[in-house]
Amino acid sequence: MRTAIYPGSFDPITNGHVDIVKRAAHLFDRVVVTVAVNTTKRPVFTLDERVAMVKEALAGATGVEVTAFEGLLVESARQHKAAALVRGLRAVSDFEYEFQIALMNRKLAGEIETVFLMPSEKFTYLSSSLIRELAQMKADVSEFVPPCVVRELRAKFG
Ligand code: COA
Repeated sequence: MRTAIYPGSFDPITNGHVDIVKRAAHLFDRVVVTVAVNTTKRPVFTLDERVAMVKEALAGATGVEVTAFEGLLVESARQHKAAALVRGLRAVSDFEYEFQIALMNRKLAGEIETVFLMPSEKFTYLSSSLIRELAQMKADVSEFVPPCVVRELRAKFG
């Protein structure tokens, strides 16, 4: 049983994240999508809201579990017996930051490999903050996020 862990703040989850989860689920027997309790960013959605949206967006995806994590990511990966950390690379600009984190995580837990997956090119320009900004300005984001996220954004921003 090969497990991968896919972390993020998911504030909120987008179709780009869902795309990465589906790709990871093709490669691994079990994918644990884990929502960061503490993030350096100030999330708009609470942890419970972010987890609930991720669960609903991924309902029915085979081999996918959703959870939250606090503290070091590699410790959570060890608890889930993950062989790999999955990260999405949308553009070259993501690489430098991801490379640094991947090397630090390798230093902390050499047995866990970081695997980079590319989302479909139609999602490469998506980010959660862009979605929040669009939703705040009442733009239609239904093309970019799962229906449950459209609903929650409307509830949050009117
Ligand atoms: N589709 C759309 N957007 C994507 C995406 C994709 N496939 N992949 C990434 N993004 C966006 C996210 O929406 C997010 O956008 P935002 O900045 O506008 O909110 C941005 O890219 C980066 O997000 P994400 O990949 O989710 O990472 P993050 O910065 O939110 O989370 C943690 C980073 C929580 C995983 C990381 O800080 C961590 O591991 N923390 C735990 C503490 C730890 O172990 N630290 C030591 C690390 S060496």
